[in-house]
Amino acid sequence: MKVAIVTGGTRGIGKSITEELYNEGYQVIAVYNSNDAKALELTQQLPGLDVCKCDISDSKAVQRMVSKIYRTYGRIDCLVNNAGIIRDGYFLMMSEEKWMDVVNINLMGLVNMSKAVLKIMKAKHIHGKIINISSTSGVAGQVGQANYSATKGAIVAVTKTLAKEFAQDQININCVSPGFIETDMTSELRNKEEIKEHVIPLKRFGRPEEVGWLVAFLASDKANYITGKNIVIDGGMIND
Ligand SMILES: NC(=O)c1ccc[n+]([C@@H]2O[C@H](COP(=O)([O-])OP(=O)(O)OC[C@H]3O[C@@H](n4cnc5c(N)ncnc54)[C@H](OP(=O)(O)O)[C@@H]3O)[C@@H](O)[C@H]2O)c1
Repeated sequence: MKVAIVTGGTRGIGKSITEELYNEGYQVIAVYNSNDAKALELTQQLPGLDVCKCDISDSKAVQRMVSKIYRTYGRIDCLVNNAGIIRDGYFLMMSEEKWMDVVNINLMGLVNMSKAVLKIMKAKHIHGKIINISSTSGVAGQVGQANYSATKGAIVAVTKTLAKEFAQDQININCVSPGFIETDMTSELRNKEEIKEHVIPLKRFGRPEEVGWLVAFLASDKANYITGKNIVIDGGMIND
């Protein structure tokens, strides 16, 4: 059985990714940070799903968790770096704390997870897949999101670089950049209807499962010749 780790895999987009990979027959390990109730709910919905509570910005904790997953399941075929946070604010008023929280989780969390998993994939000759979740904010920019956009742009660049570094190991590394998707992250937006009407050509937010389907495709053998790419899924919103 193929083994997949999904960070932020118990809520929102990550939950849909977990569900898609689970339905494809993967042993999925969904990583989360604090919301035990959502994690428990998902384990009840998907029997056999494994969940791990771990702050991905803590490199030592990540190393311990990934080693334990490898010892338990004997392989890791797929990593989806999905966990992310927003701490929005206008640039001149944005505190260093807001910057560092977002950098530590969105970027360094992905770095910590990728390093721990790639070490194993490379050493064990696993032709694995890594899929990173960026954002249209990282490609096109977004007012009030300098910190978030910086990390999401960096994720696209890291994806392209690692794809080249690990191509010799037959490890495919790609990126998915969603636009507005219906999750807790976008539930507080005040101008939702205006965005749908005037900003998104398809005139609706995306559904989490629509991102899940794309990620499941990139994780599959059908995507073996795709690496180092950033695929935007945004209802036609930006020119990428
Ligand atoms: N929603 C959108 O419109 C949209 C658009 C573009 C890109 N994205 C990106 O898609 C990804 C998922 O977004 P979402 O809307 O589904 O987010 P969400 O509903 O807010 O869920 C975020 C997930 O990340 C986990 N997480 C947060 N900090 C963590 C940490 N330090 N360690 C481990 N896990 C952590 C959370 O765990 P807990 O449940 O324990 O809190 C949760 O499972 C993010 O990278 C986001 O930037 C979202």
